[in-house]
Amino acid sequence: MPTKKYIIANWKMNLSLAQTISLAKEFKKEFAGFSRGEIAVCPSALFLTEAAAIFKGSAIKLGAQNASWENKGAYTGEISADMLSDVGCRYVILGHSERRKYLFENYEMIHKKVRAVLEIENLTPIVCIGESIEEKKSDRRDFVLVDQLQQALSGIDVFGEQEIIVAYEPIWAIGTGMAIEPAEAEYAHKIIKLALNDMFGMQVNNKNFRIIYGGSINAQNVKGFTNLENMDGLLVGGASLKAEEFYKIAQTITK
Ligand code: 13P
Repeated sequence: MPTKKYIIANWKMNLSLAQTISLAKEFKKEFAGFSRGEIAVCPSALFLTEAAAIFKGSAIKLGAQNASWENKGAYTGEISADMLSDVGCRYVILGHSERRKYLFENYEMIHKKVRAVLEIENLTPIVCIGESIEEKKSDRRDFVLVDQLQQALSGIDVFGEQEIIVAYEPIWAIGTGMAIEPAEAEYAHKIIKLALNDMFGMQVNNKNFRIIYGGSINAQNVKGFTNLENMDGLLVGGASLKAEEFYKIAQTITK
């Protein structure tokens, strides 16, 4: 069973260039010597190069918040997985619920994006799934999670050491200050684990897939998320905009 935890910061569209540089420097300082888990930061695509230069020589990995499903060509405004890799990205978030909501991304697109990202060596997709509040209230969560996984990942070949991270982010928990109850997260992760077993077999699942949680995690509530089964890490939004708080989160979850 994997023991390494992934703690991933999603800075979303929150920071200017100057703020990105300054927070990246704070992260580098804060995490100097930290080797208990995998730390990755996903700044705005526009500032990836600057962040890469700062993180060079540190253990902090770089991630992007989106990628095109196309590799090259006349796709105005898009950024390919290849380009992300070129500037030093190791991770890329795909199908975040904010993109599903505001940009009408659907799982057909997300599926194509996963394929495009897996084409690039050493680039790991972080595939977001999660139910809405209505789906939760009508008791459809389990079905929704399995359906999203199948749409995003069915038929995808996973080779060798390739990693795929599934981020369980209940939409109602994102940016609301209302994190899920840890026991509920554990249950949802179990559903995801079983669905991935069905789709890829237990061996590939254990070796190549990781499941992380995202939604209103902060330095206080993170304590409840340590030692949960099938909890391979966290995807953190708001609380990742403060280096010290994000460091505390990383410290706690890797204890
Ligand atoms: P918050 O931590 O701000 O709820 O955001 C979670 C998220 O969307 C990470 O991708």
